[in-house]
Amino acid sequence: MQPDAGFFLGPHHLAPLRPGMPVLALAPMAGVGNWVFRLICARLGARVVGVEFINCRVISEKSRRTDRLLDFSDAAIYDDTGLSLLAAQIYGNDIGLIAAGAAEMEHRGAHIVDINFGCSVPQILRKGCGAAYLKDLDLLFRAVKETVDAVTVPVMVKTRIGWDADSINILEVVQRVEDAGAKAIAIHARTVVQKYKGKADWDWIARAKERASIPLFGNGDICCYEDAIAMTRHTSCDGVMIGRAAMANPWIFSGRNGATMSERLELASEQLRLMGRYKGDRVGVLETRKHLALYFKELSRDSERRRELLTTSSLSDILEFLDRWRTDEAGNGEEADLALSAADADHLAWGGTS
Ligand SMILES: Cc1cc2nc3c(=O)[nH]c(=O)nc-3n(C[C@H](O)[C@H](O)[C@H](O)COP(=O)(O)O)c2cc1C
Repeated sequence: MQPDAGFFLGPHHLAPLRPGMPVLALAPMAGVGNWVFRLICARLGARVVGVEFINCRVISEKSRRTDRLLDFSDAAIYDDTGLSLLAAQIYGNDIGLIAAGAAEMEHRGAHIVDINFGCSVPQILRKGCGAAYLKDLDLLFRAVKETVDAVTVPVMVKTRIGWDADSINILEVVQRVEDAGAKAIAIHARTVVQKYKGKADWDWIARAKERASIPLFGNGDICCYEDAIAMTRHTSCDGVMIGRAAMANPWIFSGRNGATMSERLELASEQLRLMGRYKGDRVGVLETRKHLALYFKELSRDSERRRELLTTSSLSDILEFLDRWRTDEAGNGEEADLALSAADADHLAWGGTS
């Protein structure tokens, strides 16, 4: 198949937004990948959108938190429009519960179930979850196989290149997950020990791609759209998965490194409104602030606007504030550069889990 023709992920055909673009996916991110942000990224061009990871033990709990995590309301929109595919991510140390949880995710509308074998947070590793599976590939194989057997939707996995520099085993992992029936793999090109330090080693993505017969998403250190092109050229990966840069610039999925002031103000208002619906006004505003700070990063630290943007806690007040700002800025069509800086990348990685 020609690169522009895209590829199949199970029964789903994934094509780039426009000819010549890579197939871009929103990486799963805890505290970020809720339906509001997923929908925003899907509308801007993300062909797969990752849900924040969910512990297999939490899925059967009857709680508001579980209901929220499993709120895949955007999936129905993708069904109707073909905009994107929803990839729900599960992690845990009990293979039976992972398989059962995956079935529940399918029931809730997930188009893909993604198993997390990449999380490097010590508390998670200690419990034998996430990247701990990289130390026991028989167990990893069984987790994938039992999950594949439990669902009808395609299963993918997301992982790292190995535990440490002396035990890089991604090539074997690719083989094992394929044998177990996974339909795609996403690789964050760092070791577990590295967490977010150093550079992602895209050479390992290239080597894995040479061996893989399932579609492969490369991941790690995409700061701007050109990085996604560069990763595709360097590795021949089928798709590029973008995490932190998307938090700062969801327009990256349209192949843009920024947006005009009126586009940013409009998106901010919409995101706040939808987050209010999802989490309630107060928490919705609070949880959107990390994006707002990045969308309007040109505001100087001591500016009155920045203060108001990041401290107003009432939804109606902040929407009014954005409206006033929009009126002041009418006619300013300049596109701001929202590419992720090294400092922002480090800062955002602090809470990153995989
Ligand atoms: C705030 C945050 C939360 C994350 N949560 C998850 C997660 O739930 N599951 C997962 O597989 N990876 C998670 N990650 C890792 C990202 O999916 C991605 O692999 C990593 O950030 C590297 O990609 P990037 O350089 O494009 O950010 C998280 C990262 C961040 C920054």
